Amino acid sequence: MDKADISARGLVLLGCGKMGSALLQGWLADGLPARAVHVIEPHPSDWLRASGVNLNTPLPPRPAVALLAVKPQMMGAALPALQALGGGGTLFVSIAAGTSLASIESTLGTGTPVVRVMPNTPAAVGRGISALIGNAHAGAAALAVARDLMAAVGQTVMLEHEGQMDAVTAVSGSGPAYVFHLIEALAAAGEAQGLPAAMAMQLARATVTGAGELAQQSPDSAAQLRINVTSPGGTTAAALGVLMDPDTGFPPLLRRAVKAAADRSKELGQ
Ligand SMILES: NC(=O)c1ccc[n+]([C@@H]2O[C@H](COP(=O)([O-])OP(=O)(O)OC[C@H]3O[C@@H](n4cnc5c(N)ncnc54)[C@H](OP(=O)(O)O)[C@@H]3O)[C@@H](O)[C@H]2O)c1
Repeated sequence: MDKADISARGLVLLGCGKMGSALLQGWLADGLPARAVHVIEPHPSDWLRASGVNLNTPLPPRPAVALLAVKPQMMGAALPALQALGGGGTLFVSIAAGTSLASIESTLGTGTPVVRVMPNTPAAVGRGISALIGNAHAGAAALAVARDLMAAVGQTVMLEHEGQMDAVTAVSGSGPAYVFHLIEALAAAGEAQGLPAAMAMQLARATVTGAGELAQQSPDSAAQLRINVTSPGGTTAAALGVLMDPDTGFPPLLRRAVKAAADRSKELGQ
């Protein structure tokens, strides 16, 4: 991030719940001075109170960035507090799911640079992934600032158009819950094969997180990693015969699940 500009002009964080706190933690760890951060939050956590940021104090006149991290349904009530910062001097970054660039522009005025972001909850452990798209007024420099801010809690990808946000929401935004459910289902299946519940859960959890880490670190593709552990006629091949069934396996199931999420994202955005 352009630390010098943000340090000099300040960063406003509107809403500091789960995601706002994860981001703030990442920025402070990256060396952003706490005194440069101005947080608006009606119910600050003990951690936030002790963080040294400016909390619910008057805002600087022209901060470098305002990051919007309130729930989408609170945006209509919360955003007008920052209306005076609209119009160009301050870059707005919104992580609110389903809140379009146009609806943010309608409050802040045309000419306001706005970047819309979809993060996900592994941001809380610095392992998130965020997809970004800017409005017409967010140039390359603005996008770079937004990307650097999100990079404090994980990876980033740049979208080609805002319409891709529904698919991103369905894959990476909601995706952590699919993986948590995979852990639950794998543990339950282990129990059904005779393992004690706690042991089945430990095995399932460690397997999913360990395989995830391997997929992240390995230069091999996911398909190659799968092939590497599948001996012909072996136990893994027997299970994959079920899971890779083109009619009843993971592929059609996940296609349906991801489509349901993307459809719901489109509905909520309207
Ligand atoms: N968590 C995720 O996985 C995830 C993923 C992608 C996107 N997002 C987006 O991230 C945003 C924040 O989500 P979250 O999970 O961090 O929610 P959260 O924990 O509920 O945080 C929102 C915070 O905003 C505060 N707030 C409410 N009204 C406000 C106002 N008028 N001015 C300032 N602050 C206000 C809330 O305070 P109170 O608790 O007192 O109401 C709360 O602390 C949402 O828009 C969500 O769509 C989250």
